[in-house]
Amino acid sequence: MPKHLFIKTFGCQMNERDSEIIEQLLAQDGYISVSQPEEADLVILNTCSIRAKAEQKVFSLLGMLRKTQEKNPLLTIAVCGCVAQQEGKAIFKRMPHVSIVVGTQQIYQLPNMLARLERGESTREISCDLEKSFVIPPFQKLLEESPAPSPAPSEYKKFITIMQGCNNFCSYCVVPATRGREISRPVADILEEVHLLVDRGIKEITLLGQNVNSYGLTNPVAEKATGFADLLTLVAQIPGVERLRFTSSNPQDLSHELMQCFKYLDNLCPHFHLPAQSGSNAVLQRMHRKYTRELYLEKVESLRLACPEIALSTDIIVGFPGETDSDFEQTMDLLETVRYHGSFSFKYSDRPHTRSSSFENKIAEEIKSERLHRFQSRQDQISLERNQELVGKTVDVMIEQVKEKSVQSRTGSNHIVHFAPKENLIPGELVSVRITHAGMHSLNGEISDH
Ligand code: 5AD
Ligand code: SF4
Repeated sequence: MPKHLFIKTFGCQMNERDSEIIEQLLAQDGYISVSQPEEADLVILNTCSIRAKAEQKVFSLLGMLRKTQEKNPLLTIAVCGCVAQQEGKAIFKRMPHVSIVVGTQQIYQLPNMLARLERGESTREISCDLEKSFVIPPFQKLLEESPAPSPAPSEYKKFITIMQGCNNFCSYCVVPATRGREISRPVADILEEVHLLVDRGIKEITLLGQNVNSYGLTNPVAEKATGFADLLTLVAQIPGVERLRFTSSNPQDLSHELMQCFKYLDNLCPHFHLPAQSGSNAVLQRMHRKYTRELYLEKVESLRLACPEIALSTDIIVGFPGETDSDFEQTMDLLETVRYHGSFSFKYSDRPHTRSSSFENKIAEEIKSERLHRFQSRQDQISLERNQELVGKTVDVMIEQVKEKSVQSRTGSNHIVHFAPKENLIPGELVSVRITHAGMHSLNGEISDH
């Protein structure tokens, strides 16, 4: 009898990739994925703790799963990811219906733990031991022990983890505590995985890391000579990689070589996510960001020089402890200066084990909400204006989803474009589309060649 797995992923693309690995590992043990927790024998929550809200979502879903388990007492509930890493055994106390807690680097232990649970052993002593797991980085184990990921026929894009952890220690950020120190994956392993994926029909690759710009710098396993720009060039040259993307980057490490990649690598998509977090130097300093507003703007200018059509996006935190009205105005001013194509903006929240959680002068909730609203409204207007610049232009898009009445596609610059379907369009195909209408969050177009 096949066993049924429901997996819910919270948070970032790293987690999405980890969830894929988990599904793949468990498929070897006969698990089939289902879309509802009620249909499952095993529910896994792959969790995120980046902001207080993300963590609250996890606990509220766990609360609801208690009822699901009352109806199906054989249901096993497991928690992995960043909340698991952060809270460890405390989860068993708060949510006694959970049987397994696995840290971010221990997902390869899951099959083993499930087997123990089946034998009637307790899995409640489970460790979330970051330090120990660095001896064998999970991505190496993946290649040793299990076959490479096998994409479904309709899949056309994949993430590849090139590094894990973070050494930056921004004062607000929980990631060094949940994902540990930076470690890069060996170049040869990455290239091998890219080859495998393109052989299986994957057209778009996104290289993932908390801070890809420092790939290979802090690292006992990767070859020192291969920095991120070199890696990107090697991946771009692999035949079959039609589109190449990466995320995420820290402004201070954005090198000249990386900027030049946008000039010379045709398949590198002209989109750059460059988190600014704040436009105020005083706040940036307290955030322990290692750049100033001026350096950030210089990087933006150089990037645009290297690739004039590049679309920029960012992350912003409003209401960091001590953020004054004039600090916030500087963030608004940064938005006016850069005119991002889009951004993700958040109200600051205290996270465990972070330095800023003990900072004084916390900002009142209403002020944070007001600031967030102002920032987001202005960004929406700018996004619309930016999108309108594309009307009348013909752009190459990759097809994402073909529905009866509309096709969803994406430009290299990461804009979503909808257009009327034609016959024989398939996800992953590149077509040309003339943009006819711009909205705030997406564009409409007409297919101009197929
Ligand atoms: N509060 C609010 N936002 C945060 N982020 C990270 N930590 C916090 C926090 N404590 C935001 C940053 C980061 C994005 C992934 O989440 O903007 O770039
Ligand atoms: Fe969330 Fe950060 Fe963990 Fe990703 S690495 S799941 S964003 S806390």
